Amino acid sequence: MNADIHSQTAQSTVLITGASGGIGADLARVFARHGHRLVLVARSQHLLDALADEISASAQQRPLIIVADLAQPQSIDDILEKCAQANVRISILVNNAGFGLTGLAVDLDANEQIEMIDLNVRTLTALTLRLLPDIIQTRGRIMNVASIAAFFPGPAMAVYYASKAFVLSFSQALSVELRPHRVSVSALCPGVTASGFQLRAGMSLAAVANAMPSMIVAEAGYKGLMAGKRVIVPGFANKVFSLLPRFVPTSWLMAAIYRIQAKRKS
Ligand SMILES: NC(=O)c1ccc[n+]([C@@H]2O[C@H](COP(=O)([O-])OP(=O)(O)OC[C@H]3O[C@@H](n4cnc5c(N)ncnc54)[C@H](OP(=O)(O)O)[C@@H]3O)[C@@H](O)[C@H]2O)c1
Repeated sequence: MNADIHSQTAQSTVLITGASGGIGADLARVFARHGHRLVLVARSQHLLDALADEISASAQQRPLIIVADLAQPQSIDDILEKCAQANVRISILVNNAGFGLTGLAVDLDANEQIEMIDLNVRTLTALTLRLLPDIIQTRGRIMNVASIAAFFPGPAMAVYYASKAFVLSFSQALSVELRPHRVSVSALCPGVTASGFQLRAGMSLAAVANAMPSMIVAEAGYKGLMAGKRVIVPGFANKVFSLLPRFVPTSWLMAAIYRIQAKRKS
């Protein structure tokens, strides 16, 4: 743990989207353990309340809960207003909320695929841009949860892979722009992780057979974020996988991914 980590714990407030379960809930537990104050956002109030109870049993301060549907554009204003009302200033933003859908773009519901863009791309961008002045002023940090999917085009999950490619590209570019302000931006790129993701994506249970526990992903994310790493890929096999586009033709990769995704569909 370096000096920067210590200087950014007790006094910094972290906003985590999609904190009601999976990777987001474990990120909340990790940040709380390191002494950060928390603002937790998701739609499921009962899950957020239970997590806030669990965290406040050992942390000094109970997390602020904000129930919001982030696929709705209005939700950004609501979140900022609730933070202002509670006199909370965000210095670390974790854009984690997101979902995927497995299947051919032509077969999947068009509106649901657009909703994926709304959540995975538009809301992530809007929240980042709206919170940037505070994050710059407090020399904070941003972590955007992308995916190993960000490194490839993904037939049979086309919109999801493309949405995560946006998250990776946006995060990397922003990290260069914000370096003079001493704000670090990290893209967390997990591989298959045990969470509610697979059920929501319409994948079979076999898809999670070798999944990484979400706490391991969260720990790697926290460590990488605090070390100012631009791209964080948890796990050796995932790291190797993320490098394949440098050596393997895209057409081969897409054929392999197509086969893998087609098998995963429940
Ligand atoms: N699991 C994997 O294999 C994997 C791999 C790579 C990347 N990822 C990425 O990791 C991130 C977290 O996913 P996860 O695996 O932890 O899945 P998860 O268990 O399904 O968690 C998703 C979180 O996002 C929230 N969410 C979903 N839709 C929302 C909405 N409209 N408004 C507000 N919150 C919403 C959910 O809360 P509510 O339902 O309560 O709103 C939940 O807290 C996602 O960006 C995902 O793409 C996951």
